[in-house]
Amino acid sequence: MKNIQDIDINGKTVILRCDFNVPLKDGLVDDDSKIVKSLKTINYIIENGGKVVVLSHLGRVKGEEDKRGKSLKVVADYLSTLINKPVVFKSVTRSNSLLEEIKKEPLGSIIMLENTRFEDIPNKLESSNNEALAKYWASLGDIFCLDAFGSAHRSHASTAGIGAFIPSCLGYLMQEELNNLSTLVNAPKRPFTILMGGAKVDDKIKLMENLLPKCDYFLATGGIANSFLKALRFPVGSSLATSDEKIISKLRTFMLEYRNKILLPLDATVGSTYDENYVKYRSIAEIGSNEVIYDIGVKTIAKYKLAIDKSKTIFVNGTCGKYEDTKYANGTMQVFTNLSMSPADIYVGGGDSVSAAKKLGFEGKFKYLSSGGGATLEYLGDGKLEAVEYLKEHANENINA
Ligand code: 3PG
Repeated sequence: MKNIQDIDINGKTVILRCDFNVPLKDGLVDDDSKIVKSLKTINYIIENGGKVVVLSHLGRVKGEEDKRGKSLKVVADYLSTLINKPVVFKSVTRSNSLLEEIKKEPLGSIIMLENTRFEDIPNKLESSNNEALAKYWASLGDIFCLDAFGSAHRSHASTAGIGAFIPSCLGYLMQEELNNLSTLVNAPKRPFTILMGGAKVDDKIKLMENLLPKCDYFLATGGIANSFLKALRFPVGSSLATSDEKIISKLRTFMLEYRNKILLPLDATVGSTYDENYVKYRSIAEIGSNEVIYDIGVKTIAKYKLAIDKSKTIFVNGTCGKYEDTKYANGTMQVFTNLSMSPADIYVGGGDSVSAAKKLGFEGKFKYLSSGGGATLEYLGDGKLEAVEYLKEHANENINA
């Protein structure tokens, strides 16, 4: 696949798919990392004689009522301040006059359309990669540039479909993510350690299946650790853990096959279902039925440190517990401190781990923070992203970019 810098964009309109699915608080951008990371491509296009039409989704839009509070206008305004240039926001995803309006904007302009997922109401046109919608968006420009790494595991009209109609390429953010993460997929320096936590155990089984053979140590925390413990018939009380019997049996198989790699907690800090001020230290074999594992304990921190200290590459996907609550933040804080002191190459990606790293003050201390959630995990699982695969397959060879 071509990269943006391989294409002559002078005088062209580039349809740029970004992932501006940013967290909002009180209607304002709460974390601008994804927007900041997209600036390189946007600036490149406008400085090289092109015009940008930005597409992005914002949030999950399943019904008419979900549209409320999900307009991209707030992101357009934010981007405008950040880049110090006007961003022309169009409050539609298509209209009879949109093409003419875009044509009227001079080269060097930045135009942003409304949330692409508004096209999902009522007929899921965006997320089903509807051909007519993709063709319409393609008709608004000359080149399609995918720079939405966080959404590139979805083959939607705006992430993939457009590429069947005009030449496509990858932006700088995509390139940066793929360059960094491909090291983990293809040639991590060994020992290679994975720290995995998080609530969505069922979603991570496939990923574990792909990653366990590739790593040397697998440090389980959070819901993943609890589910392993449950599979080994330890009492986990009221802690977050899978109840799916098939998954439990899969976890037992993992334990048998990778017993020397998988490290599980020895102790925990627990809360309880009935008292929000409850904080007790427990050995892992003595969790009570009303108790909830919210953090790893000191013995586990020490056990995991031994693996961290031996490692040359570490992928962090998850925290060690409910770090947002100071009563249960010690495990995450200590483990992140140990990681930051390790000479290993540390990559952080997926779900909560990046925002934890930032909130706890570790942003500059790790080699790479990925901007993706599900996309990062899918890419690490099999080295592929649906939208990129689609673009490769459907590249329109007849059009010279
Ligand atoms: C993300 O934030 O992970 C991406 O924007 C994808 O969002 P989605 O899971 O709603 O498709």
